[in-house]
Amino acid sequence: MQRIRVNAASSSYDVVVAGGCIERAAEEIQAVSGSRRIFVIADEGALAVLGDRLERSLAALNPTLFPIRLGEERKRLAVVEELAERMHRAGADRSAVVVTFGGGIAGDLGGFVAASYMRGVSFVQIPTTLLAQVDASVGGKTGVNLSSGKNLIGAFHQPLLVLIDPQTLATLPAQEYRAGLFEVIKHGIIWSPELFQVLEDQRDAVIAREPTVLEKIVADSVRIKASVVSEDERESGLRRILNYGHTLGHGLEAETGYRRLLHGEAVGWGMIAAGRLAESLGMFSATDRARAEQLILAYGPLPDLAGVDPAAVAARIHGDKKTIGGKVHFVLPTAIGKVEVIVNPAADKVLAATQAAFDVVARTAAAQ
Ligand code: GLY
Repeated sequence: MQRIRVNAASSSYDVVVAGGCIERAAEEIQAVSGSRRIFVIADEGALAVLGDRLERSLAALNPTLFPIRLGEERKRLAVVEELAERMHRAGADRSAVVVTFGGGIAGDLGGFVAASYMRGVSFVQIPTTLLAQVDASVGGKTGVNLSSGKNLIGAFHQPLLVLIDPQTLATLPAQEYRAGLFEVIKHGIIWSPELFQVLEDQRDAVIAREPTVLEKIVADSVRIKASVVSEDERESGLRRILNYGHTLGHGLEAETGYRRLLHGEAVGWGMIAAGRLAESLGMFSATDRARAEQLILAYGPLPDLAGVDPAAVAARIHGDKKTIGGKVHFVLPTAIGKVEVIVNPAADKVLAATQAAFDVVARTAAAQ
């Protein structure tokens, strides 16, 4: 079992990473919440697979359970209101503790309910997808989408505790699992040559979800995220590096209507484009660029992008949250394990890198 401390400016909390820790959820939650009432916001999809284990383990806390159908199209303020009404009807007051259960959408949306209900109540995250375990559940970003863009309404609200049970990943659909692995690769490229090497050397064990290696890559990712968030909770500096692959990746997601790729797949593609851009700017050696790209493709395949216009994707970056005062912030690698933030790289180079990443995906698909 690994207990990783996040020391954010606004609060400190533990992230527990341990196979089977769901079974101990009641005692872990009670240790941080005492005898307060528990309200569980749980994705119906996660409940269908893991609900029995969750209900058995939380029974001692006598929780109120709110099953909810989720999906990107349901990550909206209307659903926040629906859940807040349900909490109020069930008698939740300011001492309520919300427990979120499910993937990134359950955590972001349920966390935002906690951030805003009665001006803020405590919450605990129990993420059940790889993407949520290695990224979304740690660091206190909560929120929902607007029709004009992802996560444009939200709040920083740190949880009391995050409980990560990598055993829950055994039943995750393969495409969703691989999509989460791109965020793990991101941690290797931005921070840790050692994690990068594990992903290179143990690809088959990682793909097979071998428990020991799985627990290691999840815990390493959480440790990296905890270090970054502990230094910069509000993304005024260092935390920007977590957006590696996200600038063009978000552009691709928006341009394809959030339907053609999972978020992690868009990040995988965005990291290829960012690697190409960094190489063309003379910041990243051809050898390291090729090594990073090979690792991303080894955990592919990335979805087919036929019919998507690279110029339209590149143009989307101007509507992104990472564009501040009209300036586009790009996180670009300088070596495996090291990145820098570059402001306003030349538009023709961004377009060329976007086109190159499209070509990489097309070539890989043709070779399969
Ligand atoms: N997912 C990026 C962050 O939490 O800052």
